[in-house]
Amino acid sequence: MRAAVCRRYGPPEVVQLEELAAPTIQEGMDDRVLVRVRCASINPFDLHYRRGYLPVRFENGWTKPKQHVLGIDVAGTVEAVGQAVTRFKPGQAVFGHCLGSHAEFVRARESTLGQLPSNLDFEQAAVVPCAALTALQALRDVARVQPGHRVLISGASGGVGHFAVQLAHHFGAEVTAVTSTSNLAWVKALGADELYDYTRQDFTRNGGKYDVILVAAGRRSYFSSKRSLNERGIFISESPKPEYQLLQVAISALLGDQHPKMHLAQPNQKDIDLIRELLQAGRIKPVIEKVYPLAEIAAAHRHLETGRTKGKLAIAVQK
Ligand SMILES: NC(=O)c1ccc[n+]([C@@H]2O[C@H](COP(=O)([O-])OP(=O)(O)OC[C@H]3O[C@@H](n4cnc5c(N)ncnc54)[C@H](OP(=O)(O)O)[C@@H]3O)[C@@H](O)[C@H]2O)c1
Repeated sequence: MRAAVCRRYGPPEVVQLEELAAPTIQEGMDDRVLVRVRCASINPFDLHYRRGYLPVRFENGWTKPKQHVLGIDVAGTVEAVGQAVTRFKPGQAVFGHCLGSHAEFVRARESTLGQLPSNLDFEQAAVVPCAALTALQALRDVARVQPGHRVLISGASGGVGHFAVQLAHHFGAEVTAVTSTSNLAWVKALGADELYDYTRQDFTRNGGKYDVILVAAGRRSYFSSKRSLNERGIFISESPKPEYQLLQVAISALLGDQHPKMHLAQPNQKDIDLIRELLQAGRIKPVIEKVYPLAEIAAAHRHLETGRTKGKLAIAVQK
């Protein structure tokens, strides 16, 4: 199979197309599903793994990566299933989370896949899982957003942010979105009640108090935002550096301050199914800035690396 392979840490050019043996479902992999990948997406996760960001090397190898094929979102058709799989059969269209979707075939766990929503094509479905699950779990589980809460999403035009705006609106919150000038109109259309253009205004200086501040993208610390939280306010940062989140939470906890919270998304069947229902009902929808063919994966890495992507980037793998 064709796969985008990363054999050393480094710049986007280290990712090269290679022919590899396709994965198979071997003994002991009874809950696995082999997916023929139609489309994938690219996430900041892929950039961290490709660059060999220090904490990644603990798990993925100090000098060179153990995981050669990146990609954690997938949409495609089921090619084969393990003996214990009950929800899927060959030929069925699916989407979800896996590791190694920048290739023509990938093996996923049954519990991290869902049926393809009937109103989405493979490209649209492939860009959803990681970003939407992250936004969902941050708002629902960590921030416990309730109807009427004032929720501010900074980085509202990015992968996580544009789902966060739609989900906060779905939960009945009053949504304030922070983005730059060229994104204001389409982010408003996602359900934002109020907008801040961060190139002209600083939301921490408007005197507003929020129940939740979710920094979905862009560098903004808890310490520079805390004046904008109300008494029970929760601050969550989807920082590219989890140790930076941890540091802010730890320092605050030492000072008796419980406002900032840690968050790491966990793919699971219940939430994939919920995301599918919300897509199917039109409550959330993905925005795709560009689709790259697998052969141009390095260009997709360069694009995401700018930190200016509008919504998501899709990777077209097979027709
Ligand atoms: N905790 C988890 O489990 C988890 C899971 C997934 C992702 N993440 C993390 O979440 C973060 C966001 O991921 P993503 O996929 O949403 O990133 P992304 O799509 O690359 O974010 C790009 C967006 O960020 C906006 N942005 C950049 N600087 C900004 C600023 N100063 N203020 C407001 N917006 C700004 C850009 O809008 P403009 O062009 O208008 O600047 C652009 O639309 C990453 O750090 C990622 O590592 C965490």
